[in-house]
Amino acid sequence: MTVVIPIISAAGGVGKTTLSLMLSYVLSPNYRVLLIDMDPTAGLTLRMLGDLTYQRLLSERKSLMDMIRDDEHGNVNIRNYMIYGRQVKSYDDEIILYPQFNEVAVLSPGEGFDEFFAENQNIDVGKMVWKVLHRSGIDGLFDVVIVDTAPFFDKRYTLIALYDVTRAVVVLRPTLTDTNRTNTMINKITGLFRKMDEKVPVFTLVFNFDPNKYVIEAKTLSDVLKVQRIDIENSGRLVSMSITGRTRKVDEMLRRNLEALVKLNNSVIDYFNYVLPHNVRFSDESFPQDNHVIADRRISDNDRAVLQVTLSNLVNRFGIKLNLGYDILTV
Ligand SMILES: Nc1ncnc2c1ncn2[C@@H]1O[C@H](COP(=O)(O)OP(=O)(O)OP(=O)(O)O)[C@@H](O)[C@H]1O
Ligand SMILES: [Mg+2]
Repeated sequence: MTVVIPIISAAGGVGKTTLSLMLSYVLSPNYRVLLIDMDPTAGLTLRMLGDLTYQRLLSERKSLMDMIRDDEHGNVNIRNYMIYGRQVKSYDDEIILYPQFNEVAVLSPGEGFDEFFAENQNIDVGKMVWKVLHRSGIDGLFDVVIVDTAPFFDKRYTLIALYDVTRAVVVLRPTLTDTNRTNTMINKITGLFRKMDEKVPVFTLVFNFDPNKYVIEAKTLSDVLKVQRIDIENSGRLVSMSITGRTRKVDEMLRRNLEALVKLNNSVIDYFNYVLPHNVRFSDESFPQDNHVIADRRISDNDRAVLQVTLSNLVNRFGIKLNLGYDILTV
């Protein structure tokens, strides 16, 4: 059975695409991975394959949108619409991808989702998209399908990704705004699914943020939910930080939000003890296109450990074992 991992969020720019790429990176040695870019801005496709490649894929009609259109005229084959990491060089010879992406397949979104939604207003678009995907042969070709989405402000992409799944990943920062928005999003999705008599998926929260920017939030997160960072430098900063009135207010409000988020939704939410490491090595400046080839590409032992624990816990929830018998972050 192909495992589908939807990556969703209430707010934008929280790290959905980064997490999608990290997951395919660690899973690709042991599993056949397809990355579906279910975001009309094509953020994942552009970050991984580049601007030139995306334009060439469009001109060759290699995208999800093209596949859905062609399906109206007969059976489609996923192989004609996706691209493997190893093929990128033939589209843009300047792109250097981490070699772990050679066997990762990407399905770009393509253009024209607006028209597609307008034409299918009264149709269950999620059902339709997945029918085409299954017909195209994804089940025989892939063990894991990771679906990166647009933020929930336009809930259509989120809902397509959630079609027929039992679990989804929710990325968020431990901020007042993100916790509020995430709570609202989960309530809306839960309400919609119940109304349609569909089984509500379990949402696994993954916190991702820059702890140097969100110092008090990091501390509150670890106090309230026992979510930790193994980060000596940062905890040093925390100790020395003076508690101002504003800080106390943020701390109090965030405590309430985190408790509300987790307790009120406790039948549909889970999370684990660690967050994603925040490191320039994982940012779009260097991952998965390594633009500046640096001799020593290793990241700190702490970050590597946190990443392994977090991603391994995450995929375990989906019934997948991460093979940690090797150093995943040394290229
Ligand atoms: N763990 C991390 N370490 C370093 N940089 C990160 C990390 N997570 C995210 N970033 C950076 O934060 C920015 C936003 O991340 P990303 O594009 O993955 O978010 P997103 O949720 O996919 O955004 P959007 O909603 O626009 O699709 C990017 O510049 C990315 O490089
Ligand atoms: Mg994105």
